[in-house]
Amino acid sequence: MQLAIVDMAARWLHIAGVLVWVGHNWANVVNHPVYRRILPQDPPDAAREVFLAASKREHGVFRHASLLVWATGLLMLWNRGEIVDAYMLSGASLWIGIGVWCGTIMVLNLWLILWPHQKKVLGYIEATVEERLRCTRVTFLSSRTNSFLSLATLFFMVTAAHGA
Ligand code: HEM
Repeated sequence: MQLAIVDMAARWLHIAGVLVWVGHNWANVVNHPVYRRILPQDPPDAAREVFLAASKREHGVFRHASLLVWATGLLMLWNRGEIVDAYMLSGASLWIGIGVWCGTIMVLNLWLILWPHQKKVLGYIEATVEERLRCTRVTFLSSRTNSFLSLATLFFMVTAAHGA
């Protein structure tokens, strides 16, 4: 049985998560419109702990918002018995399926490519300066990939919900 309350609650959380996650991604596009091969400035020793804590909170919040988006998206699909059809792009689930694939690729890109490299760029784990600089290129490209995918995902999600 499909429960309207589950759909409403999941949709609300889904959109809130999208705002936090994708909003953070697009703020980065505005702040760094082009690639520059530089590292973020290391904070002075006195403020290092405070800086690291704030930076970890910021990155943790938007990374985990992506999991909320994925989980609530799957919850909506499960509630309608549509998970398999969406991932198989079958029949009437084609449009939401394309959006779901784009969104899933975004989550995997964030956790499996961006995050492991970003840990080095931000100095959360040890790496040489040369290695950290190499990682800035990977994080830039990975982040921009998600910016473009977010436009496609939004289009297909909204189209699926509003009469494709
Ligand atoms: C990560 C995997 C994702 C899954 C499994 C998923 C799944 C879903 C589902 C099932 C819906 C309901 C659509 C309908 O009622 O027909 C939905 C709505 C929505 N999704 Fe996603 N989604 C995902 C990622 C994303 C991402 C990355 C974005 C933003 C870039 C996004 C933005 C939205 C929006 C804005 C809606 C509301 C559409 C509306 O009611 O007008 N979703 N999503």
